[in-house]
Amino acid sequence: MEDAIQRATGTEAPAAGVPVLAPAGAPWTDPLGRATILLVDHVDLNRQLIKGILKAGPYRVLEARSQEEALRILDRETVDLIISEWIVSDWSGHPNSGLEFCRRVKSNRRTHLIPILIVTSVQGIENEVAGLESGADEFLVKPLQPAVLRTRIRSMLRNKRVVDSLEEAETILFALAQTIEQRDKETGNHCQRLAALSVALGSAIGLPDEDLLALHRGGYLHDIGKIAVPDAILFKRGELTSEEWAIMRSHTWKGEEICRPMRSLRPVLPIIRNHHERWDGSGYPDGLKGEDIPLLARILQLADIYDALISRRSYKEAFTVEDAIAQLRREAEMGWRDPELVSVFCEVVRLPSLQAKLGEAPLSAGLPPESPELASMRESLVRMSQQLLK
Ligand SMILES: [Fe+2]
Repeated sequence: MEDAIQRATGTEAPAAGVPVLAPAGAPWTDPLGRATILLVDHVDLNRQLIKGILKAGPYRVLEARSQEEALRILDRETVDLIISEWIVSDWSGHPNSGLEFCRRVKSNRRTHLIPILIVTSVQGIENEVAGLESGADEFLVKPLQPAVLRTRIRSMLRNKRVVDSLEEAETILFALAQTIEQRDKETGNHCQRLAALSVALGSAIGLPDEDLLALHRGGYLHDIGKIAVPDAILFKRGELTSEEWAIMRSHTWKGEEICRPMRSLRPVLPIIRNHHERWDGSGYPDGLKGEDIPLLARILQLADIYDALISRRSYKEAFTVEDAIAQLRREAEMGWRDPELVSVFCEVVRLPSLQAKLGEAPLSAGLPPESPELASMRESLVRMSQQLLK
């Protein structure tokens, strides 16, 4: 039993010689390669004026007469910058509807990275502070100086390109993580279920949103270091040799190294590195003990073990929910797992709402249908990982 669980979750004794923890082009959518700017102003003349100033630039300009119309455009277009009037009277009639517009753009995951430049005729620091707090990125007060407007726009688009390239890199990492998961045909939608289980436990103990986001990402990225583990070891049927276990264990710190350059993934690094530690200090790679093990790593570990237990593998049958809970409690009694966290987790996994969510990511249904572009990216990543393993 213990061996089966170790094989399913990759848990084993700590390794010697593991490196110590280190401190921690723009996707233009226009076919001509131009940035897309959305102008929002209910006065035709104001939009014409700004369009005139931008005429010589490499921009595709979209126009909206109201903020509601702008939100509809944002639903269907990829926009690189929004230039919006601040005080409007055609939407809700409320003099601060600019605040609401910024909040709505910035609270939508699809549009929250689009910079917003507010153009206003209203002077006053309070106005500017309120706008920036609601998510606007820059303010310009009328009358507009063409040179200033053009310079500000170029600067904001430059920053947007940097953000876009980081986001692309993150997307590639997630695709890579799913490619690694696909190497193991038995795991089905393991990452998806892991993310749901971890977030459910995190929510149950009242973690803030940023921790829940880290758990969600950790569900997908925690084993990304397995790209460095050859199939011959990862899927070996018999006992692993001590050298093979060392390679298997290295997926923790190698995964951390892969993700470390990405600033946005920093909250996920402790999950990637420490998801195989044990409460009594007998885990790896750092042999951390008790609450020295990062909380998010302890949460993901329970989800990882639970999902491995309730999944059918070639070398074992699937556990029932109650059998898996009993096994987790045994591991807590043995000193391997955080006992308080195990107690909460055992309650959380019984919740019908969570079981329904897990039912949407079935154990053996494989990944959902994907677009030709994603399939092609996945093939490239498989080739890349094969090259890396040579
Ligand atoms: Fe792992």
